[in-house]
Amino acid sequence: KRKVIIDTDPGIDDAVALMTALSDPSLDILGFTTVAGNKGLGMTTTNAVRVATYFDGRVNIYPGANNDYVSLKENKPARENATGEIHGSNGMGGVDFPYDESLIQETHAVDFILDTIKANPGEVDLIALGPLTNIALAVEKDVATMKQLRSITTMGGAAQGGNVGPVAEFNYWFDPVSVDIVFKALGEAVPITMIGLDVTGQSLLDMNDLEFMRLAGGELGGMIREMFDAYILNAFKNEGTVGTVIHDLVAVVGYLHPEIFTEVYYANLAIETKGEYTYGQTVIDFDGRTGRPQNVSIAMDIDLLTYKEYVMATLFGDDIC
Ligand code: BDR
Ligand code: CA
Repeated sequence: KRKVIIDTDPGIDDAVALMTALSDPSLDILGFTTVAGNKGLGMTTTNAVRVATYFDGRVNIYPGANNDYVSLKENKPARENATGEIHGSNGMGGVDFPYDESLIQETHAVDFILDTIKANPGEVDLIALGPLTNIALAVEKDVATMKQLRSITTMGGAAQGGNVGPVAEFNYWFDPVSVDIVFKALGEAVPITMIGLDVTGQSLLDMNDLEFMRLAGGELGGMIREMFDAYILNAFKNEGTVGTVIHDLVAVVGYLHPEIFTEVYYANLAIETKGEYTYGQTVIDFDGRTGRPQNVSIAMDIDLLTYKEYVMATLFGDDIC
């Protein structure tokens, strides 16, 4: 089984991504670490617990950073609700889940990540579905151990476009300094795959897909369908499409089945940490013009049908497709 830690800020799309990971028997999920992003740390932790509780409490939760890197260093008040109502008032589209508080551990996310890698050098994959704050703090604390990760898959960034303003993607915009720290420290030592808006934006689940989940996916399918009402309206405002992209789900399914990506490039990723108009923008040097080293593989195209089949089969069982 592949050993994996998932760092997350649920968030509806995180929640569905976590459910999918929990539904795949090939994974040994060692823990969920939580971070502030879509909502404040308290709520993202609560939501990670809710998902884990729903799946019989199989995974423990390790709370991490309650702010972006710079704000943490400056002791600023925690950022609470960066995405407004897109993820519903509770970050889960208002849907009720069971909740077992005992899954929350005292160990800080950063220490859990480092201890787990030390116990399993070269064997742990990290999937980051939120801002990279915990990962940057872990790099800062013990970069040698972080270099023993087997891989990192990060949902964030975009070669083109953005979903926070015209050029920045939310996770990387929330904490660009952490992105900078992680790619500079680990980019040449650990294989990093960036799943950005270039592919997640193509990965639309339309109303047929969502209704299929409700009709064929039992209780879980019904809950997922219900979680998406607010999100669907948001997608409609942005794309004029009735349906939704589930960004973090693309990262998890892509980690499980990299063949869904039909175009992947090695490139250099740099991030704008100061720009007046471009704050949080990822600058991807596909052609090596800057002379900077390749530090990322970036997925640029996806086989949508195969992606959808994997989503349905993983969540609801092979027979469904
Ligand atoms: C990313 O931002 C968050 O709102 C989502 O959970 C996802 O991780 C998409 O830009
Ligand atoms: Ca997320």
